[in-house]
Amino acid sequence: WITIDAARHAEAATLPKSIEIRGWVRTRRDSKGGFSFIEVNDGTCLGNLQVVAPAELSNYADEIQKLTAGCSVVATGELKESPAKGQATELHADAVRVIGWCDGETYPLQKKRHSFEKLREWAHLRPRTNTLGAVMRVRNRISQSIHRFYDEEGFYYLHTPIITASDCEGAGEMFRVTTVDLDKLAAGDKPLDPSRDFFGKPTHLTVSGQLEGETYASALSRVYTFGPTFRAENSNTSRHLAEFWMVEPEAAFFDLNDNMALAERFLKRVFTDCLNECSEDMAFFDSMIEKGKIAQIQAVIDKPFEHMTYTDAVEKLTTCDEKFEYPVQWGTDLQAEHEKYLTGLVGGPLILTDYPSSIKPFYMRVSDDGKTVAAMDVLVPGVGEIIGGSQREERLDVLSSRMQEAGLDEKEYWWYVDLRRYGTVPHAGFGLGLERAVQYVTGMTNIRDVIPFPRTPGSAEF
Ligand code: 4AD
Ligand code: MG
Repeated sequence: WITIDAARHAEAATLPKSIEIRGWVRTRRDSKGGFSFIEVNDGTCLGNLQVVAPAELSNYADEIQKLTAGCSVVATGELKESPAKGQATELHADAVRVIGWCDGETYPLQKKRHSFEKLREWAHLRPRTNTLGAVMRVRNRISQSIHRFYDEEGFYYLHTPIITASDCEGAGEMFRVTTVDLDKLAAGDKPLDPSRDFFGKPTHLTVSGQLEGETYASALSRVYTFGPTFRAENSNTSRHLAEFWMVEPEAAFFDLNDNMALAERFLKRVFTDCLNECSEDMAFFDSMIEKGKIAQIQAVIDKPFEHMTYTDAVEKLTTCDEKFEYPVQWGTDLQAEHEKYLTGLVGGPLILTDYPSSIKPFYMRVSDDGKTVAAMDVLVPGVGEIIGGSQREERLDVLSSRMQEAGLDEKEYWWYVDLRRYGTVPHAGFGLGLERAVQYVTGMTNIRDVIPFPRTPGSAEF
């Protein structure tokens, strides 16, 4: 048995005499000359393998001529060079076994093209389409590449908790964790009553593994977390999910410059792996989803990232001719429209630094001016912010007053404060939203189409 990827890309000289492939039928066409041409796909590559089934096969009339899109088959035969355009090889079948029939009356993925919106209704079947298949292979490539990169850079893969009592971002909207007994609930049990807290205190699903990551960076020097992250923000946009995956490196003895350099090396490495190892899928995105994507990403790999301070960005935004929906002034958070304008201005990725402390979380290091923090966001054209990070506040007294300002109880975060008490070091890190990275690489416009099972307000089918 070999994959269709292997069968499609086999060298003529090395073609094995007899092979077996397994997959799902995309189309079937019968020729007058007594053959059926069956396009089979198994998800290992974008293209299908053409299976040529001769009328002599014993199940030709009964089964092969009844194959429709979605049926699963196992075919054996000889792999030959194909005379047809667009494929190097084809399989001359000596047997085609039908494993599972597919009701053509009800199967939604017929030849007609469906909108991505429509496909979201069939989250269980949409990976069988060209686009979603390609997205998921690229998503896999990026995920594996993330691990490769950090392993090579000497970062330890750290598993931070999903259920936590700490609130890293202080953004407010979180998913509370509680236990429910449905019978007791019906009898009036109050699961949110503090006496019912399973862990003895209120807990929620993590919004970021950073704070826990900092504790391990203060021991193992370099760590990264990579896992699901949850935010109950009620924003129905094309770049927000309630459940998304985030990779968060954290490094001791790093300052903001080290952090920015790491982020740039990291993104370039991931992009390079996508171009090299998903070339067929990338060519598909380049022609079907966003024209010029490959050249755009190659240019990003070849050039140093642009840098700009928040203060300079606000200056540019307030003096340009563009009309924005949300007005900007020093101290306001930047909106998607502003990020779009700025990345358009530099024509590529942009690292924005030195944001006002008033709009950033308590853990970011306060700069000498007393007004800004050592923060960095990486913005890319089309998507906006894909990375958010900073150098962390390592000074005990400054951290204390920042926590007070933010209304945080130092006693609740005693373990975090301890790190500044026992051998504190400058350190820094950032978070990359995996889905936003996939969006950028593929050119997919809606974040719901780059995660297998999107969770957004009002939507979780299964
Ligand atoms: O900028 P954020 O909120 O930063 C943090 O959580 C830091 N604690 C990270 C760190 O320094 N270790 O989120 C980081 C990134 C964003 O740039 C974005 O790419 C992604 O996470 N992100 C989301 N992606 C999808 N849906 C959402 N609701 C997201 N919120 C953030
Ligand atoms: Mg952010």
